[in-house]
Amino acid sequence: TIAAVRGRRVWDSRGRPTVEAEVLLKSGLRGRAIAPAGASTGTGEALDRRDGGTAFGGLDVTGAVAAVNGEIAAALAGRDAGDQPGIDAALIALDGSDNLGRLGGNAVVATSMAVLHAAANASGQPLWRYLSAGRPVRIPVPEIQIFGGGAHAARRVDVQDFMVMCPAASSFAQALDWTAEVYRAAGALMKQAGKLQGVADEGGFWPAFASNEEALDTLMRAIEDAGFKPGREVAISLDIAASEFGRSGAYKLALEQRELDSAGMIALLGRWLESYPIISIEDPLAEDDAEGFKAFTALYGERCQIIGDDFLVTNAARVEAAAASKALNAVLIKPNQSGTVTGTRAALDAGKAAGFGTIVSARSGETEDVTIAHLSVGWDAGQFKVGSFTRSERMAKWNEMLRIEEELGSEASFAGWEALPFAPQ
Ligand code: PGA
Ligand code: ZN
Repeated sequence: TIAAVRGRRVWDSRGRPTVEAEVLLKSGLRGRAIAPAGASTGTGEALDRRDGGTAFGGLDVTGAVAAVNGEIAAALAGRDAGDQPGIDAALIALDGSDNLGRLGGNAVVATSMAVLHAAANASGQPLWRYLSAGRPVRIPVPEIQIFGGGAHAARRVDVQDFMVMCPAASSFAQALDWTAEVYRAAGALMKQAGKLQGVADEGGFWPAFASNEEALDTLMRAIEDAGFKPGREVAISLDIAASEFGRSGAYKLALEQRELDSAGMIALLGRWLESYPIISIEDPLAEDDAEGFKAFTALYGERCQIIGDDFLVTNAARVEAAAASKALNAVLIKPNQSGTVTGTRAALDAGKAAGFGTIVSARSGETEDVTIAHLSVGWDAGQFKVGSFTRSERMAKWNEMLRIEEELGSEASFAGWEALPFAPQ
């Protein structure tokens, strides 16, 4: 039973204010969670409530924190922390708006996840095991950023994430070993070329490249320099985050100083798919380009994972509609896009029911909170995306997964190729 809920302002990886919620049970046990924040947000997401005004660039969260300490605390006192659906429904009803904007999506998601942690603590189990409820689970395949771009690097290149995936590894630990070597090799190449200029928001190298293709070529070389066969062992994954530069069928590629229509964008990505071992592409088209998504998936859905992030915003109804229209074959799962644990779970379940790849994901603004590592295992998502291989808000999640894999011991099975919604060529 919930005795009290507390909210406080803490700080995220970009040095911005964010909301932490703490749930205290009558037994004395607690649960705690912190809301993350996106930079390339979809328009259909739960609203991140910010104060506006002048403090911290208008990004303060005193209103959202006050909502946790006031209305939310009053509404949840005395409720059963084990009834996550009931609590999440109560939070949504209390908010009353269609995007959690009144209380704040940040206030609600921090509270919802804190309740989940409290319930897991009360059960005496680690969160992932509590969530799995005795069903078999797999350790997910990590998707790890090597170069950051787009909104996370002042649009230095158009593409937001240049990542690697190692579905052929035998374990999560080995996938990290391989990625660490690729990250090192990429850094060495950047240094050699006089292009080492620090890191972007998620810890990937700042992309001092003249074209998107130069980034892809450098990534290929890094994989080879690290001693791997591109494709066979270490494959490429991209998040185009096309909503950031595309609208109403017009895609403005700043770096290449050209504008493409939807068909032109599909042709460009098609050429990349022919030239590089790309096994996953997220948001290849803008969130308002459903026809483009369908056309792209009809062409490449049999050989590439096509993920909806801004397009699906962790919304079960949107996932079902996308499945019905064959608009893509995978869904990114971000708790703060939905706003509640229950809504997040529903979106993931809808993805699984459709045979989609399901990827639990962090945001570009993160903290030491590792809840999503547990969600990805406990809900058996199969894939896990956290950003790059530096900076502790990222490493905290990778390291938590190492602990979970170790705890599972011989029970641990790495999801590998099975996690992807197509058969390897
Ligand atoms: P965001 O980026 O958290 O800034 O939205 C992550 C992503 O697009 O996957
Ligand atoms: Zn994305």
